[in-house]
Amino acid sequence: MPGMPRPIQALVHCEALTHNLGRARAAAPDARVWAVVKANAYGHGIERAFAGLRGADGFALLDLEEAQRLRALDWRGPILLLEGVFEPRDLETCSRLGLWHVVHCSEQIDWLAAHKTQAPHRVFLKMNSGMNRLGFAPAAYRSAWARLNALPQVDEVSLMTHFSDADGARGVAHQLSVFDATTHDLPGERSLSNSAAVLRHGIKNDWVRAGILVYGSAPDFPEQDIAHWGLQPTMTLRSRLIATQMLQPGDTVGYGSRYTAAQAQRIGIVACGYADGYPRHCGTGTPVLVDGQRTGTVGRVSMDMLAVDLNPLPHAGIGSEVTLWGCGPQGAILPIDEVAQAAGTIGYELMCAVAARVPMHVGTAP
Ligand SMILES: Cc1ncc(COP(=O)(O)O)c(C=O)c1O
Repeated sequence: MPGMPRPIQALVHCEALTHNLGRARAAAPDARVWAVVKANAYGHGIERAFAGLRGADGFALLDLEEAQRLRALDWRGPILLLEGVFEPRDLETCSRLGLWHVVHCSEQIDWLAAHKTQAPHRVFLKMNSGMNRLGFAPAAYRSAWARLNALPQVDEVSLMTHFSDADGARGVAHQLSVFDATTHDLPGERSLSNSAAVLRHGIKNDWVRAGILVYGSAPDFPEQDIAHWGLQPTMTLRSRLIATQMLQPGDTVGYGSRYTAAQAQRIGIVACGYADGYPRHCGTGTPVLVDGQRTGTVGRVSMDMLAVDLNPLPHAGIGSEVTLWGCGPQGAILPIDEVAQAAGTIGYELMCAVAARVPMHVGTAP
């Protein structure tokens, strides 16, 4: 029997996923909603996230293996492969699992034309309207559409593009005008909006692709936060204090002595480090909750530990609960976006990077 595990754990809040999905529906009332569950449901785990997202109209992802896992959960509804297939034999899996897939390049049309299938495939033809990542250039789009439409392997052709700046100052108008000009007289359902576009731009869609918003992170933080958008954290990373230290003025903390106490100061040592997925780039002052009360980190994040200021928390000690992000005791909330900002990154990266050694469970907010 091994001893006690390290006290760190991650919780996935299914009721918050359901709530946030409801926010997507409210913001796009005329559209059906894909819950984007790529990257193992943005680090939450497909199976755990599914429990909160089963009310979605469909699931969008990249990996055939993840699609298989959704079918194993008995999801019979639509599944969309956002990058389409990577090689011709993937089309057999699409046929077998009934997957819808993006078509973004002419090679994928060639593969479809050579594919033997009983049931024609539903495809989403992707336009590169300015992001310059995937998709047909506007000038090539209509001929790709005509080619696909003529294939017996193809059922319905839907139209799709992706925005580069829905969260920012440049906005979506420049891409939207390209998309509309090219597709205005083409039949088929449209899918354009990601989370930022859903929340910030009232674009007509038949299908929206809601990713980060369902995971309780504001796509346009710090301009807006989750409270503004009515979103709830869906993941809590929590641990406990495993030691305390009393610093005298001039004492330093951690590797590189990056923090020097200016006065007598009590600090706590948390069982959480960069090997758990907590970003090493978080400098002194990164917000953290101890017993549900806000304080800040001090010094460098180590592999397995980090230090927090306990001067505002005279009663905290070994065993005190530490919330690295998400939901703390007594309804306290520390949005993942604030921690991400302190690390110079975005909530997406943190939630996707929780390390495999951190036990992750479905659980209600403490
Ligand atoms: C094509 C596509 N659609 C939708 C999304 C979801 O984006 P978000 O998580 O910002 O809602 C992504 C994610 O990057 C994507 O690549």
